[in-house]
Order: sequence, then C-alpha cells, then structure tokens
Amino acid sequence: MKKISYLLSLTILVLCIYGCNNFNKKTEIVTSPSKNISLEFILSGNGSPSYLVKHNDIIIIDSSKMSFDFKNQESLQKGFEIIETEHNYKDEDWEMPWGEQRIVKNNYNELIVKLEEDKIPNRKLNIYFRTYDDGIAFRYEFLKQKDVDSLIIIDENTQFKLTGDHLCWWIPGDWDIYEHLYNTSNFSEINALSKQNHSNLAQSYIPENAVNTPLTMRSNEGLYLSFHEANLTDYAGMTLKIDKENLLMTSELVGSDRFAYKVKRELPFLTPWRTIQISENATGLIKSNLIVNLNEPNKLGDISWFKPKKYVGIWWEMHLGMSSWDLASGKHGATTANAKKYIDFAAENNITGLLVEGWNTGWEHWVGFEEREGVFDFVTPYSDYNLNEVVRYAKEKGVELIMHHETSAAPRTYEKQMDAAFSLMKNLGVHSAKTGYVGKIIPKGEYHHGQWMVNHYRKVIETAAKYHIAIDAHEPIKATGIRRTYPNIVSREGLRGQEFNAWSSDGGNPPEHLSIVAFTRMLAGPIDFTPGVFDIKLNSKLPVGSSNQVNTTLAHQLALYVVIYSPIQMACDLPKNYNGNPAFQFIRDVGVDWEQTKVLDGEIGDFVTIARQEKVTKNWFLGSITDENKRDIIIQFDFLDEGKKYEATIYKDGAEAHWNNNPTSIEIEKVIVEKNMKKIFTLAEGGGLAISLKVMK
Ligand code: NOJ
Ligand code: CA
Repeated sequence: MKKISYLLSLTILVLCIYGCNNFNKKTEIVTSPSKNISLEFILSGNGSPSYLVKHNDIIIIDSSKMSFDFKNQESLQKGFEIIETEHNYKDEDWEMPWGEQRIVKNNYNELIVKLEEDKIPNRKLNIYFRTYDDGIAFRYEFLKQKDVDSLIIIDENTQFKLTGDHLCWWIPGDWDIYEHLYNTSNFSEINALSKQNHSNLAQSYIPENAVNTPLTMRSNEGLYLSFHEANLTDYAGMTLKIDKENLLMTSELVGSDRFAYKVKRELPFLTPWRTIQISENATGLIKSNLIVNLNEPNKLGDISWFKPKKYVGIWWEMHLGMSSWDLASGKHGATTANAKKYIDFAAENNITGLLVEGWNTGWEHWVGFEEREGVFDFVTPYSDYNLNEVVRYAKEKGVELIMHHETSAAPRTYEKQMDAAFSLMKNLGVHSAKTGYVGKIIPKGEYHHGQWMVNHYRKVIETAAKYHIAIDAHEPIKATGIRRTYPNIVSREGLRGQEFNAWSSDGGNPPEHLSIVAFTRMLAGPIDFTPGVFDIKLNSKLPVGSSNQVNTTLAHQLALYVVIYSPIQMACDLPKNYNGNPAFQFIRDVGVDWEQTKVLDGEIGDFVTIARQEKVTKNWFLGSITDENKRDIIIQFDFLDEGKKYEATIYKDGAEAHWNNNPTSIEIEKVIVEKNMKKIFTLAEGGGLAISLKVMK
C-alpha cells in the first residue's frame, strides 16, 4: 500500500511538472498566405524560445531552440516573457533592374514576438518570423540595453531539428572558401572533416563537422528543403553544425583568431535572416524568390549604367598555362595587342564585354607569397599594356572593359586604393570590375566568411556604387540576396567554377556538378561560372599531354548559358576554338537579361531544364543538362505565347555524344515551334540541350 501511494504521488508530481510547464507554455502561430506552411513560436514554461515548422499540417522542422552566448554578458536562452506580439501581412510586386525575371512577387505573413527577461537586467529580444508559400525565415533583433553599448557574440545557437535522415547535397563548412565539390549523402553520413571532401584547397579552414549554406535536402516523403541566410550584413557568415545522432543542425558562425568572438555589434541591431526554402518539387527551389524578397529594396536607384552582358577575356589562356598574369614570366597575356585581338573577336560576335587579367603590376608576388600587403597596384598597368589605348579601341568597337582587381586576399591594401582605382575606371567609362581574394586573408587570423570580411565585401560594393561600378566578386562572401538592395553586386563565384577543369588534380568537375549547383549554390544568387568551353579536351593546354579536360559535352556547355543564371556571362574559350564552329551561334544569340524564367523540370544531381524569356526581344532560350547518365527529356513548349510561331534552333548532343568519349559531337537543326507542341530529346552522358526560340514576325 505504501509503495502504491508512493508511486501515485510520484506520478502526480511528474504530471504536475509536465502539466504546469505545459500550462505555462505559450504558442503563437503564423501561416503562409496560401496556408501550406505554418510556423509555431513556442515559449516554454521556463521562458525559453523555440519554433517549429509544418508543411500541410505535418511537422517538417521539429521544436528547435534559439539562444545566444556572449562574451560580455550572460547567455540569452530562458526566463523570457512575451511582452507583445504583432501580426503583419505584405503583398507587393517589385521590379528587378536585371535578373531572372522582371517582376518579383513578395507575399508573406509576419509575426513579431517581443520578449523580455523576467529578471534583472530585463534584456529584450524581438524575433521576426515570416511565412511565405515557398518557405520561412526568421531573424533576431537586439534592442538597446541600459549601460551597454555593444554585444559580443561568442555563439549563436539557432537549431534546425530535422524529422528524418534526409538525403543532403552539401559542401564542407569551410571558413575560407566555397570551392568544393558537392557531396550527396544522408544527413547521418555527413562528414565534412574528411580530407576527401576538400582536396585541392591549401587555403581552406574547417574546424568541425559543419556544412556551408545553401544546404539542400530531400526527405523520404519527397519534400525539398534548403537552408540558407538572407541579408548577411555586419555579421559573421553562418555554417551549420551537424549532430548526426539527433538529426539536429545548429548555427555555427564563422570566427576570427584575432578576436575571441564571432560578432561584435553596437546595439540595437538585427541579425541576418535564417531561411528555409520549402517545396514539393526540386524545381520549386529554383523558382523561389525567398532570399531576395527578404532583403531591403534598391538603395541605389537608377543603375542603367550597368548593362547585362556577355564577355570574353584574357583569362582561360592563363588557366591553360599558355600565358601568364605576370610580366616577368616572359609570356605575359595582358598585352595591348592581345587585348585588341579579343576586342575584334567580341565585336564580330555580339559580345560587349572584355575582361583583362594581369593588366596591373604586382603579379610577380601573387600566389604563395606571405607578404602580399602593398604588392598589387590597381592603377598602374604593366609596361606592355596601354590601358587608355585598349579602352579607346574597345569603345570604338562597342566593347566595354571589365576591370580586374585581384586583391590576393589583402583587403586593407585594396581599401586604401579603392577610391583611386574606381575613379580611374570612372574616368575611363568602365563600369564593372571583377574582384578576387585568392589565398589566406591578411591580417592573419581573419577568414573570408567572418564578420570582418563580410564588412569588407560590403564596403567594396558601396564604394563601387558611388563610382557607378558593378562588382563580380570571386572568392566572395556567399550571396544572400543583397543584390536587391545593391544591384551593383551583379555576380559572384563562390563555387567550383570552370577553372577547376583546367588545372585541378582531382579530375575536374564531374558531369553531375552543375545539376547539383542549380539546386544549391544557385539558390543564393547569380553565378559567374564562366561556361562555354568548346575545346573540351583542352588540346591547347600546357604542358602538352596534361590529362585535364572538361567533363561535359559541348551541348551541355551551351545549355549552361540558360541553366546557370548571371547577368554577365563569359564566353570563356579561346577565340580560335570558336571561330568556324556553327555551335557558337547559340552564344552569339543567347540573352543575358530576362523578362521571366520557367523551371520546366529537374531532379537534384540528375538533370535540370530551364527556359528564360529575353526582356527586350521576347525571344526564349532553353537549356537542359544531365549528369553522367544519358536520359530522354520531354519538352513541352507551353511556355510560349499563344498564336505565335517561333524559329527554333536546336543544339543537341549527337547520337554518339558522350562527355568523355565523344564530347564535341553536336547536331544543329532548325524547326518551327508553337505553344501546343511537345518534343522528346535524348541527352548524352554528361550531355545537354540548348534551344533558341526567336519570335517569327
Ligand atoms: C581566381 C579566380 O576565380 C579566377 O577567375 C582568376 O583568374 C584568378 N583568381 C586570378 O585572379
Ligand atoms: Ca576561384
């Protein structure tokens, strides 16, 4: 009897604790406009905040906690009370000055939860939640505190609790570079620390099992999720730490060895948005505008001085070892005569941009040099390069230069010279620059993706804007939709680009590479991938006999001009490899500025088919790529205008085409196509399909 009553009272006690906690628990729900997605904010009995996400009433992100650790004060994690909640709704259309589409719909419900600690010092924290039909986002707002000017964040602990061991497409959570091949594995098998996952990168740093974003996954039930961040401003980039056993991810901010913290900010401030794109099909991820929608409207006003363009460059020849950036080598690529050769080629082929790398002094002390501060000079051309003459000649032929600024990861040197460099460009009428940050950051202890560098990259964009200059950043900070606010950040690298095919010792980018990139890196924003290699076997590469090649067919290279979005697209191969090849007509014709985009079909890592309509001409272009597998794809032309006829030029893999055995086999045919038509095409192993569809008068 005694035993029974003891058990009874224990049960009552447990129930009471549970019940009291439950009783005290407060929840607040915000649902997306079409009600497919909902987010629940939960304040537990002890006042600790968490959230969960449902899709069609099924939990897809389970209860996930939110907390912060600071250097200069107690952690923020519990003891909160809800002071106030606010619900807002927005439905607006905004116009992109350039982009995948002209008009973007921004439609969401918002919940703002205002929290305050119930004990002294009664710190306040606001959390903004937004639910869209294509995902959710939330951010934190730190408010003013009495007698405290700034917060020093040691750790942000935002959790993302998965509901299954999803299939993931991931790259290591490297603090210095995103140029890794994507791994495909279940969540429980993510091992970002394994050397095999980041070969090739002397300058990389990854402290723990974490991944970089966008991180895309597919659940067993076929739901697609992609985790990223939006509006990364004055804060450290976020990686996601992997807890395999608990199917849990926690935000892990990129740090600095110079300071024992991740972020320092003056109060009050807002963090970047933590985002989850959610879709019932893979194509929905590419269609999603969540990331740009979460950014502030255009701050620059009219930027018509930047024109989307195709460009050629003194570039691939360097990566092939045929010429070099520096003068001392005796095979300097950036000579006045060579630049003119490329300008002539561009002018003859409807290409309006020219990139010249290695034009300025300093390259003798580029890669491998510890002391890179003060080495590069961004206003002084080498003696065999007459900058004024090249600009004059280009202008005469309707071509504009893209300036090149390789900082060699010495941002302080660049910042010192930035105004001089940009005003030189302004005086020359040059409106875009490609920047680069190869190597370890100087000062030592900083990383490419930490707060200090995030601020540097932003400073470059803001300063460039004053001089009417657009930036294409290589070795950049990841894209987080800032292009909406600063439309002069036009493109970025931030992935394993084409260049790896020229020199990497791991066999280059495999055929599946871009069919993963389209659903991962590309969700963040435009990519300067530099497509268009026609000499797939790299016959011009030095030393002769090197085994590097591009692991796709020629038709696949053409398709990339449509599949991979960027308002500047390079035709990267040597002019001699284009001359006389009828397939080059596609590059001459293809648009770079779009009225609208239709993602027709695709599966991550398998294939993707995208059609885009050019803004001015209303012509359509279609690109489709496959991985190492041959496959048939059905194209339904229902995206075309009713009642109109289109002259279609089809560039498809030849019957025997194969990325390795027969990559340049291509068939070109012309047919008339209308809206109600459907066609089946066979993509070769590593193959592709490109179609231009011109409206017939
Ligand atoms: C790396 C860039 O990705 C590449 O395009 C450039 O040629 C080199 N750095 C030199 O700046
Ligand atoms: Ca690079």
